Amino acid sequence: MGAAEVISNTRNASAGGDKPPLIDIRNLRVTFPSGGAEPKAVLKGIDLAVQPGEIVGLVGESGAGKTTLARSILGLPPSPGRIAGGEVHFEGRQILSLSESELRRLRGRRLSVVVPNPRAELNPLLKVGDQIASMAKIHLGVAGKEARRMALEILREVQIPDPERRMDAYPHELSGGMAQRVVIAMALICSPAFVISDDATSGLDVTVQAQILALLAKLAAEHGSAMLFISRDVGITAHFCDRIAVLFSGEIVEIAPREPLFLEPAHPYTLMLLAAFSHSPKLRDSWTVPDTDRRRERSAGCQYADRCPIAQPVCRTLRPPLAEIGPGHFVRCYFPVRHA
Ligand SMILES: Nc1ncnc2c1ncn2[C@@H]1O[C@H](COP(=O)(O)OP(=O)(O)OP(=O)(O)O)[C@@H](O)[C@H]1O
Ligand code: SF4
Ligand SMILES: [Mg+2]
Repeated sequence: MGAAEVISNTRNASAGGDKPPLIDIRNLRVTFPSGGAEPKAVLKGIDLAVQPGEIVGLVGESGAGKTTLARSILGLPPSPGRIAGGEVHFEGRQILSLSESELRRLRGRRLSVVVPNPRAELNPLLKVGDQIASMAKIHLGVAGKEARRMALEILREVQIPDPERRMDAYPHELSGGMAQRVVIAMALICSPAFVISDDATSGLDVTVQAQILALLAKLAAEHGSAMLFISRDVGITAHFCDRIAVLFSGEIVEIAPREPLFLEPAHPYTLMLLAAFSHSPKLRDSWTVPDTDRRRERSAGCQYADRCPIAQPVCRTLRPPLAEIGPGHFVRCYFPVRHA
């Protein structure tokens, strides 16, 4: 495969369709100071585009770079990280070249984020109804009474019990699940075009997690919002993501529509993630590998080579390109797994 073909395939991989994407991340690179001469590369050239209304899952283990990606999309990589290159196009603008005040106007109005630990997101001194209403006042310019009406309506949509009463509650009076519903209400009240959910329900109990994720997906669809849904748990994405991207060590190693990803996973790392959820001993024995080298960075070749059960010498010398192996199904591996 020639370089031009690889680049063109990579662009297609990122797009997920023929229409112009809502958000288009191109060759995004983020580094952190390492103490040595060379900064540590944490995002190593991410290409990812999301269509209007599409829900894209982003999965990978802890430390893969998911939060770094979520925050860098908004122009705010976690400190002391810095954006070392690349572009993020959103509604015709290159986000990474906007001024701080332009970015602030965009966040909350057209782009919003739902993170775990909702209590840290809410102001403990303000009633939740006022906090939600202030989003509509600031970003949509609506008057106080209308903003409160909208706040009450969205509290109903997020299925908070007794929403009239909750309007006047303080954050500490809410359970963790209710506080997360309030944060979702704040994220969605302006019907943003794009929502990033970064591990939004971790920390909540499993039943509440499932309810809140189902609600988040339903409301994103009703508000016409596209979503990047980030999770360590690939199983969760099976329920409502249209496409799923697998991130390993700062690189997308596989991206595909939901069915091919779950039925015909091709990257050994994706198989390892799925094996953890599988009842099949054969799958688990073949693809689950000891976790000895998980923090080791490779300077050349495939980032997964030290953990990969089918690695070959070529894997350790050249970085594999992201290549298309089926419609919309791309994998960064020299020996993608074929399913009979
Ligand atoms: N403050 C920091 N200083 C140095 N390196 C950092 C810092 N924050 C993150 N990193 C580096 O960035 C990598 C990615 O971190 P990130 O928080 O994006 O991972 P994640 O995929 O969101 O993990 P998790 O699932 O635990 O939330 C880490 O492995 C680490 O090497
Ligand atoms: S390129 Fe080689 S080492 Fe990397 S995932 Fe594929 S087979 Fe494994
Ligand atoms: Mg994270």
